Amino acid sequence: MTSITCIDDLRQLARRRVPRAFFDYADRGSYSEETLRANREDLLRLRLRQRVLVDVSERDLSTSIIGEPASLPFSLAPIGLCGMQRGDGEILSARAAQAAGIPFALSTMSICSIEDVAAAVDKPFWFQLYVMRDRGFVRALIERAIAAKCSALVLTLDLQVLGQRHADVKNGMTVPPEIRIKNVLDIMTKPGWAISVLRGKRKNFGNLAGHVKGMESVNSLAHWIAGQFDPALSWKDVEWIRSIWPGKLILKGVLDVEDARLAAKCGASALVVSNHGGRQLDGAPSTISALPKIVDAVGSEIEVMFDGGIRSGQDVLRALALGARSCMIGRAYIYGLGAGGQAGVAKAIDIIRQELDVSMALTGTRRVADIGKHIVLGEAR
Ligand SMILES: Cc1cc2nc3c(=O)[nH]c(=O)nc-3n(C[C@H](O)[C@H](O)[C@H](O)COP(=O)(O)O)c2cc1C
Repeated sequence: MTSITCIDDLRQLARRRVPRAFFDYADRGSYSEETLRANREDLLRLRLRQRVLVDVSERDLSTSIIGEPASLPFSLAPIGLCGMQRGDGEILSARAAQAAGIPFALSTMSICSIEDVAAAVDKPFWFQLYVMRDRGFVRALIERAIAAKCSALVLTLDLQVLGQRHADVKNGMTVPPEIRIKNVLDIMTKPGWAISVLRGKRKNFGNLAGHVKGMESVNSLAHWIAGQFDPALSWKDVEWIRSIWPGKLILKGVLDVEDARLAAKCGASALVVSNHGGRQLDGAPSTISALPKIVDAVGSEIEVMFDGGIRSGQDVLRALALGARSCMIGRAYIYGLGAGGQAGVAKAIDIIRQELDVSMALTGTRRVADIGKHIVLGEAR
């Protein structure tokens, strides 16, 4: 991995190593991908302010995230189907995150189950919850997360219905992969991927196995989600979840100030300014453009996290400068997972760490707590 110097290198490698349907599933966004692009473009528009002759010999990237010490100001976002980027992908990612001293969030739609991951790692991880129509099953999932000693529940709010991702439709994205000539030929050119997935603990959704009917083979992920996820989800349900989950709660998928105000009143530890990485409402604003208003409105009441479009340490710095207390990274680490398993995720984290460290130094910043609006020159659109 010595020739890998940036997240885009990991992306190129993942593109070569992961079957097209799963690479595209990770890489692409919904509809015409306006919001996916806006997340990147608006981040890049923010110029960092170069400062010189500040003593930056002692630098510290550590911080706390929802009250827990973290060695870096970011966590690994919940990502469905990690185990289809690389066999046991959730375990590999959790191990890389824990080795780096940062939180890992396990998706409801993971291949390894909550219990698989809990048995494979030493420290607690976060569990991300999608609310299904079957509330008995939701309660059971929460009880499993409690039993596995998960240290936070990440409740995702922005996927009551699924935004269409054209690539998934065109690629016939299924779990496990559908036996089509095109897919078989593709998989034959990715033997490393095939071996890792065959050796992996599971080939379907580990948290749902045996609990949800019809998920043994999900022929159309989109169709299946439409049948299971609850479009009637409301703030009342958040109250209910708050009442049965005793630990820290993170509300993920807030993009609007009014929603942020409601979220701040729910007894949650944090909210995540997120548009699901440009995979849901196409045409929604970029997360970096929404961040400052949300921080102004509720930043003193609730910890504000940020995700969407982060591909470098400079991007983490931009988001923290506009008021995020920490970031979540999604695709950046998924490319690492597809490119090189646990070592690839570790590489992604390390690339971002080094970029953040150097960029802090070059902006004359020694500590995460010293990052502020003064280090950016442009305003997010
Ligand atoms: C392949 C993929 C799968 C995702 N699955 C989930 C999921 O299961 N639950 C969830 O809350 N968010 C999910 N997300 C959204 C991420 O948690 C995060 O919000 C997003 O990836 C951030 O944008 P970025 O990828 O540009 O960093 C997913 C994102 C991607 C790219």
